[in-house]
Amino acid sequence: MVNYRLDKSIVLVGLMGAGKSSVGKRLSEEIRIPFVDSDDEIELAAGMSVAEIFERFGEPYFRAGEERVIRRLLSGEPQIIATGGGAYMSQTIRSDIKTSGVSVWLKADLETLWERVQGKRTRPLLKVEDPKLTLKKLIKERTPIYQKADIVLHSKKYGTQSSMVKKLLKQLVFHGELECFNG
Ligand code: S3P
Repeated sequence: MVNYRLDKSIVLVGLMGAGKSSVGKRLSEEIRIPFVDSDDEIELAAGMSVAEIFERFGEPYFRAGEERVIRRLLSGEPQIIATGGGAYMSQTIRSDIKTSGVSVWLKADLETLWERVQGKRTRPLLKVEDPKLTLKKLIKERTPIYQKADIVLHSKKYGTQSSMVKKLLKQLVFHGELECFNG
């Protein structure tokens, strides 16, 4: 059996709908290393949904909680962490990831993202009149920051998650972030 060892957490970043959670879960199954979703952890800590936090306390409050939660997740044993789409915009979070993790940007085009998020009403930033336009603006605004990630993984409309996971595994081994051994 092939076993895997991680020295640092793998941190998945990218826009809403890029597939961070699903790819993270698949990777976790493949290498048998725990997976955690930062939005789920924020919800657990706050005792309410992300949408509710935005509604009741506003985005800056959510972002402050997001920084605290991601710092805590990074301070534990290496694991696979899916972050919310805006997390990597924070300089503090980027620098925490640089210290204790390897960042992977799941890069997807507008049509791919839109197909995955349209009709879902859970994301506060997309509860606007023209959510597709908002997504387009976010791609433009955030791409220069996501580009700073250590690894870029293309997330395509017709690509399968298992092929993405295979590519990611290869890249992580190539970058020396993941060790595999028989045993
Ligand atoms: C956000 C993305 C969401 C969530 C929040 C804000 C963003 O996470 O953290 O609604 O700023 O892009 P997902 O990327 O998992 O949808």
